[in-house]
Amino acid sequence: MEIRVTSESALQYSGDAVVVGAAQGAAPTGPLAEADRALDGLVGRLIDSGEIRGKQSEVTVLHTEGKLAAARLVVVGLGEPTESSLLPMRRAMGAAARVLRDRGVRRVGTALHQQAPSGARLQHAARAVVEGAYVGLYRGAECKSEQDLPDELEELSVLGVTEEEMEATEAAVRVARVAGEATNYARRLVNLPPNEATPIRLAQEAVELGESAGLDVEVLEPAQIEALGMGAFLAVARGSEEPARLIVLRHRGAQSGPRIAFVGKGLTFDSGGLSIKPADKMEIMKQDMAGGAAVMAALRAIGQLKLGVEVIGVIPATENLPSGKAYRPGDVLKAMNGKTIEVVSTDAEGRLILADALVYAHQLGATHLSDVATLTGACIIALGHVAAGVMGNDSSLVEAVLDAGERAGERMWRLPLFPEYRSQLDSKIADLKNVGGRPAGTITGGWFLREFVGDTAWVHLDIAGTAWSERDEPHQIEGATGAATRTLIALAERIAGGVT
Ligand code: BES
Ligand code: MN
Ligand code: ZN
Repeated sequence: MEIRVTSESALQYSGDAVVVGAAQGAAPTGPLAEADRALDGLVGRLIDSGEIRGKQSEVTVLHTEGKLAAARLVVVGLGEPTESSLLPMRRAMGAAARVLRDRGVRRVGTALHQQAPSGARLQHAARAVVEGAYVGLYRGAECKSEQDLPDELEELSVLGVTEEEMEATEAAVRVARVAGEATNYARRLVNLPPNEATPIRLAQEAVELGESAGLDVEVLEPAQIEALGMGAFLAVARGSEEPARLIVLRHRGAQSGPRIAFVGKGLTFDSGGLSIKPADKMEIMKQDMAGGAAVMAALRAIGQLKLGVEVIGVIPATENLPSGKAYRPGDVLKAMNGKTIEVVSTDAEGRLILADALVYAHQLGATHLSDVATLTGACIIALGHVAAGVMGNDSSLVEAVLDAGERAGERMWRLPLFPEYRSQLDSKIADLKNVGGRPAGTITGGWFLREFVGDTAWVHLDIAGTAWSERDEPHQIEGATGAATRTLIALAERIAGGVT
């Protein structure tokens, strides 16, 4: 798909369709009002009759019969005009792009970014809209032997950009393409079935990223992982016939300055191990490498964008399966930093593999450490499938992540790591145990990880609720969402730009 930025207006654009937004319960303004006038008030009549309601992502396709230069006017709902973020237009663009692609439309112009809430910068709005189109256009079903898929869009034109704004908008749109493609790369990895997305396969994908995105790649095998003293990671891996891998990606964007490390949970299938999960819905536990996929995808984008900052990605990759060799509840493990862990549940495995990976990232000299994980079902109880949980030991880094999430169109919410919660992890026989009971399960998961980052500035993203969409939505299909990918990219951009 070609992305163009042009000064042509919504009335002038002569492609197959031009997309404009309609807010719920508000009279048409801006490009929608202009298009309405060109169509002799048709849009207003459809609003009056209730056919166009402006509900979020509702798509109405009107044929212009020569009254506009484009063959179709596409009115897409932006919802109630209460939301001050760019999320409604991001989702609206995804929904419109998907409907149009599926109807055989090829050349699409958009004026949605011109309808941003007041105060938003045009470049941010254009980026959100283009990223939204990529997210909407992603399609899964990669394993079907016969695929009858509509062709891709040929062109997306960002309309009505003035001469003064042209250069900055073109730059924003280039970044949007990279970030949008990275999101879909993460989704593809997570959607792969667990018999394909093994630790070895993830490592191969990482090696390919090394070539395509100019990253240094190192893959450690079990003997090397053992030599490093990663007793927690290896314990989780022991129950599986598939050998574990520790994947390390490095973008050397600067010789000095901050060194960012992203650590992603790469649990390619989580059965729970001996503390086995119920069979119902167990198949979606292939999503348990979504954090790892987000880190790989973010490094891919950061490499392609050649950001001027050093970024390291660390992904511990393994399965969690029961077997005669599997680790047990009651085992005491020793992590790479020497701390001992009493295993209460083998299903709290994510924190074990991340513990060693965080120590490793700390040893690599990270100045800013961020982990991303589908860590706790409790996070779904707390925040549903709407927002990711954010916790950390450094308020300015936490604020930076919240800001990056806002920019990236990913909802994030901070949870507290009050010291009182730490005692829930106290063990009678070891330094800590891997389960802190039911109360505040997401926070005790965060507290566990905190024990392995030393005094490095660190932030933890629990994406258990946001990594997977249980149903087709107008702006994204069912399955992996690529959660946290764009937030990590935005965070790296921010730190590269000298903020935080
Ligand atoms: N991978 C799961 C968490 C999860 C649940 C991710 C649902 C996505 C959707 C994690 O390894 C897990 O099993 N956590 C346990 C922790 C508990 C034993 C302390 C949980 O949430 O039940
Ligand atoms: Mn688990
Ligand atoms: Zn898990």
